[in-house]
Amino acid sequence: MDTIVQNVDVECFDGDELIRAGEILREGGLVAFPTETVYGLGGDALSPFAAKKIYTAKGRPSDNPLIVHIADWKDIFEITSNVPETAYKLADKFWPGPLTMIFEKSEKVPLQTTGGLGTVAVRMPMHPIALSLIRESGVYVAAPSANKSGRPSPTCAGHVIEDLSGKIDMIINGGVVGIGLESTIVDMTGKLPVILRPGAVTREMLEEVIGPVSVDRTLLDKEPKAALKNTFIPKAPGMKYRHYAPKGVLTVVEGDIGEVIKLINELVSKRKSEGHVAAVIATDETMGSYDADIVKSIGSRKEKGSIAAGLFAVLREMDYLGAEYIYTESFDDDYFGNAIMNRLRKASGYNIIKAGEERRGI
Ligand code: TXA
Ligand code: MG
Repeated sequence: MDTIVQNVDVECFDGDELIRAGEILREGGLVAFPTETVYGLGGDALSPFAAKKIYTAKGRPSDNPLIVHIADWKDIFEITSNVPETAYKLADKFWPGPLTMIFEKSEKVPLQTTGGLGTVAVRMPMHPIALSLIRESGVYVAAPSANKSGRPSPTCAGHVIEDLSGKIDMIINGGVVGIGLESTIVDMTGKLPVILRPGAVTREMLEEVIGPVSVDRTLLDKEPKAALKNTFIPKAPGMKYRHYAPKGVLTVVEGDIGEVIKLINELVSKRKSEGHVAAVIATDETMGSYDADIVKSIGSRKEKGSIAAGLFAVLREMDYLGAEYIYTESFDDDYFGNAIMNRLRKASGYNIIKAGEERRGI
């Protein structure tokens, strides 16, 4: 199939550019589009056929449910049942924005969209192109991140073209996204809301609005390898799959930054002496400290947002450059940093070492 690439200037568009995209969605086709978090791969959420096409295009296991995107608050009553009072408060504060909430689904939503679950994830994105597209199409838009399953989520149209060109009807190029990490997911179906995936809306921000919120134990577990071995099942099915992985072997090095730099340099020198291409994911502040074949900055330590925004692009860049062994610095695991570390740890398949603790030889 020929994939149409439609450029839309986010600063200046009148909606006509999205007419064809809206038609494609109504006809059951697939359109990738920018949101403020990452690019999404959209299809009609109420069409089992469109849902099936999404899974095929991504190569995604069909038990991994899709997020349904809406443009107006009232839409939520069509696709869910039992919306608790707390959800009204969260929507009031964080919608449109990088927050996804899970509710019991209404009968209208097919099980193909929810991966067989009786619940549905809903988000109202903030990106002007995403909102216009949803309104133009007149459908609820099911959209996972627009990457091939297992690859880093796309933060620009080029990433989507790389993964999905020839497999979907249209890609809307609306430039680079703002946030760069996927939305925070909160399960609203229990007594206490539970965070299933950390994102730009942090636990603290949620608690400020609705009081105590808990965190899925998959995210807290000290030995997340248990999750990979399926000894218990995370509540968001997507969290059990290997994700974001670059082609090379990625190792997250945690600890005091001075020790981290020292250990990474030792490991890089070992890999180089073996004849491998070794790479480092550093920061603007530390780039000059490494002697590796490839050194890339993920962002500035002074601005967490820049690290989030750079993360997926830097992982893809490692593939373009042929990095065989990649060592990344780590970041404070609090607030927004928790979302950053969650993605880095997952990308490494939980291949984590602690500098200064003498666990060498990896
Ligand atoms: O920022 C985002 O959320 C982006 C943009 C495009 O909106 N979308 C996104 O979708 O990241 P995706 O499909 O890549 O990730 C959705 C995650 C998966 O881990 C999935 O298992 C979980 O949400 N999920 C979806 N529906 C669920 C449900 N009913 N119960 C539990 N987890 C659910
Ligand atoms: Mg995804």
